[in-house]
Amino acid sequence: MTFSSSSSVPALAAITCLVVVVLGCYWPVEARIPTTLDGPFEPVTVPFDQSLRGNAVDLPESDHRVRRRVKGFEPEQISVSLSANYDSVWISWVTGESQIGYNIKPLDPKSVASVVRYGKLRYPPTHEATGYSLVYNQLYPFEGLQNYTSGIIHHVRLTGLKPNTLYFYRCGDPSIPAMSEIYHFRTMPVSGPWSYPERIAVVGDLGLTYNTTTTISHLTSNDPNLVLLIGDVTYANLYLTNGTGSDCYSCSFPHSPIHETYQPRWDYWGRFMENLISKVPIMVIEGNHEIEEQAENKTFVAYSSRFAFPSEESGSSSTFYYSFNAGGIHFIMLGAYIDFTRSGKQYKWLEQDLANVDRSTTPWLVATWHPPWYSTYEAHYREAECMRMEMEELLYSYGVDIVFNGHVSNDNRLLG
Ligand SMILES: *[C@@H]1O[C@H](CO)[C@@H](O)[C@H](O)[C@H]1NC(C)=O
Ligand SMILES: *[C@@H]1O[C@H](CO)[C@@H](O)[C@H](O)[C@H]1NC(C)=O
Ligand SMILES: *[C@@H]1O[C@H](CO)[C@@H](O)[C@H](O)[C@H]1NC(C)=O
Ligand SMILES: *[C@@H]1O[C@H](CO)[C@@H](O)[C@H](O)[C@H]1NC(C)=O
Repeated sequence: MTFSSSSSVPALAAITCLVVVVLGCYWPVEARIPTTLDGPFEPVTVPFDQSLRGNAVDLPESDHRVRRRVKGFEPEQISVSLSANYDSVWISWVTGESQIGYNIKPLDPKSVASVVRYGKLRYPPTHEATGYSLVYNQLYPFEGLQNYTSGIIHHVRLTGLKPNTLYFYRCGDPSIPAMSEIYHFRTMPVSGPWSYPERIAVVGDLGLTYNTTTTISHLTSNDPNLVLLIGDVTYANLYLTNGTGSDCYSCSFPHSPIHETYQPRWDYWGRFMENLISKVPIMVIEGNHEIEEQAENKTFVAYSSRFAFPSEESGSSSTFYYSFNAGGIHFIMLGAYIDFTRSGKQYKWLEQDLANVDRSTTPWLVATWHPPWYSTYEAHYREAECMRMEMEELLYSYGVDIVFNGHVSNDNRLLG
């Protein structure tokens, strides 16, 4: 198994964070990336590069990479994510325009159909699948703050797919007509002890800064088969609802007792990422920047609405934790910002999921969640200690091979 590398800069040092924990981090892009089978390697300690500190600048809304390029109800922000096994994937996209302001009117999600036409040939498509659609709102019941309502978000699950196979697809509503261009993705290899995706990119705390563009170019040039995003996606919560950046996450917001957000940043992110994630499946787990509290104490609404998760397929029924197979690897994605206690639903699900793992078909067991349990860095020190105390023993008892985290703007590796 080889994980490709990517490196980046924390969107805002100290409060937000980036850890790209990868094997093969320091080889140039052109060189062959060694696999673990080429090891064992001498441990490498890399001194902290002070130039990576702070001052990451967000892409402005005027940047062409974040502008809306489609018309009417044509699909945009198209992405692929995996279901629990190679034979199924999710296709997601957005139609219609989001609104932000003092007098928003949510779109009717039923007004645009969710259809994917696909097949092994570029043309004609041999299969059609339909899915569901939704809109979400981000509401602030405070004087002076603006409310947001999303475009229509579509999720369609394709099933019955062959392993390690290229599929072509178009998504949209053929009756308008408003179908996308033709895109393609490759399914994961079949699960088995000698069957792995060649390269998996693991990234956390991605954001949408100029440095994010460097990270994504580097990641794309390594031609990954799968991208894992270990929390902290857009940092829309570093903005006021009027679109003004607020560089300080811990500062109190002047007009409301809760954190404001500027939800159009999510649309910008979806547009910027489309080029990569309309082709390469992305699996996301929530970080603290996705909490985004709003009216009626609702949280994680953008995160839970915009991405498709193999929740039902992996028995969790939750967007906050789930699992999936990628070849001979079983990935467990855990939620650090919801109940993780031993009496809670997540823990019970985790026990069941671990008990179901068959190490003869998925010898590698990899777990991820956003805030690290082990970190010597000053920022966020022992922040996830309660989660560790609840879950560590269980993960140990099943012999988890690798853990990936984000959150801390530094790189710590522990090899056991
Ligand atoms: C935003 O939505 C909240 C909750 O419905 C409401 O109380 C508030 O008045 C709305 N604000 C604006 C500016 O429309
Ligand atoms: C991050 O982006 C800034 C421009 O916003 C640039 O000056 C800086 O060199 C970048 N840092 C790295 C490590 O690429
Ligand atoms: C947004 O609100 C902040 C805080 O009230 C204010 O300082 C800023 O000028 C506003 N920006 C715009 C574009 O209205
Ligand atoms: C929302 O949270 C606040 C404080 O965190 C609490 O006082 C209030 O009762 C909650 N409201 C609802 C509707 O749960």
